[in-house]
Amino acid sequence: MSNPSLLILPGDGIGPEVMAEVRKIIDWFADRRDLVFDVSEDLVGGCSYDKHGTPLTDEVMAKAQSVDAVLLGAVGGPAYDDLDFSVKPERGLLRLRKEMDLFANLRPAQCFDALADFSSLKRDIVAGLDIMIVRELTSGSYFGEPRGIFEENGERVGINTQRYTESEIDRVARAAFDLARKRDKRVCSMEKANVMESGILWREVVQAVHDADYPDVELTHMYADNGGMQLVRNPKQFDVIVTDNLFGDLLSDVAAMLTGSLGMLPSASLGAPMDNGRPKALYEPVHGSAPDIAGEGKANPIACILSFAMALRYSFDKGDEAARLEGAVEQVLADGVRSADLMQAEGGKPASTSEMGDAIIAALENSL
Ligand code: IPM
Ligand code: MG
Repeated sequence: MSNPSLLILPGDGIGPEVMAEVRKIIDWFADRRDLVFDVSEDLVGGCSYDKHGTPLTDEVMAKAQSVDAVLLGAVGGPAYDDLDFSVKPERGLLRLRKEMDLFANLRPAQCFDALADFSSLKRDIVAGLDIMIVRELTSGSYFGEPRGIFEENGERVGINTQRYTESEIDRVARAAFDLARKRDKRVCSMEKANVMESGILWREVVQAVHDADYPDVELTHMYADNGGMQLVRNPKQFDVIVTDNLFGDLLSDVAAMLTGSLGMLPSASLGAPMDNGRPKALYEPVHGSAPDIAGEGKANPIACILSFAMALRYSFDKGDEAARLEGAVEQVLADGVRSADLMQAEGGKPASTSEMGDAIIAALENSL
């Protein structure tokens, strides 16, 4: 049997730096755990625009469709701010999500004990936090039609459309319930059923899926604004949160701060199973391209490294090796190794991006 295949798309800003550390981790698993991937690398985002005039070429799109999993760094940067909307770096990422039909975006927010004091919230509110946000990723206001900027009565009007079909809600609800079954068996669904018809339908369909097939999972519903408030008031009340594309974008950034730094959060975007039984999948850190620190070796590679751990778990059925990698990250943090984003008043010299990666490799060695 041939090796499983990985397409690496480092992208822009700090993407290439953090991805270089993931490459070291991938090499370690090949050398030390006999877990060998066929790795190829290509362009997405601004760097693709610079070379090809488009943030994602059809060739790279086709490659992404054919591999077992895609790992992506980050896209975007100020150099591309004035580009036409259709060729902005972000369009490359959105095309990948849409054409691979990656409808379930898993965004775990876990607070490592060593970082509980780094959150802007009090330690006892976040210590031990372990929640999973499941964000719908291929529909809603990100993709709904009509959209655009139009002329109307002598002025311009900007339009986006929040649109969800029953089947779109059904499949992401199932993804959330399936995950909950492997966790604490609780799902909280968030929408705005008090003001949006799409929210009413969302609530009805999630409830119906639950009643038909997941009665063993506890289901609650919450308006998304209240959900945002509850996330900072008492985040540990949640296990799995399922929500739409736009609310999920907002709520996952809120959840990120609970963990101490946006530099810690991985994500998995999963679609339907392929012929080989593996889900279509793309793994990426939740953080962006951070152009202000790009190229300086200051970026925290942990979110990207933990995204690879998610790939091991969700694409390659290597939950034990994923846990090994997550344990190595936890060990490094417990040892006090800190990238710049994790430094507080205590001073000292922060670990560089590659020093963080090396420390994680050393902790992996120790795990053997
Ligand atoms: C995210 C990002 C993206 C989004 C951007 C970069 C298009 O904020 O993954 O959360 O809005 O989905
Ligand atoms: Mg976002």
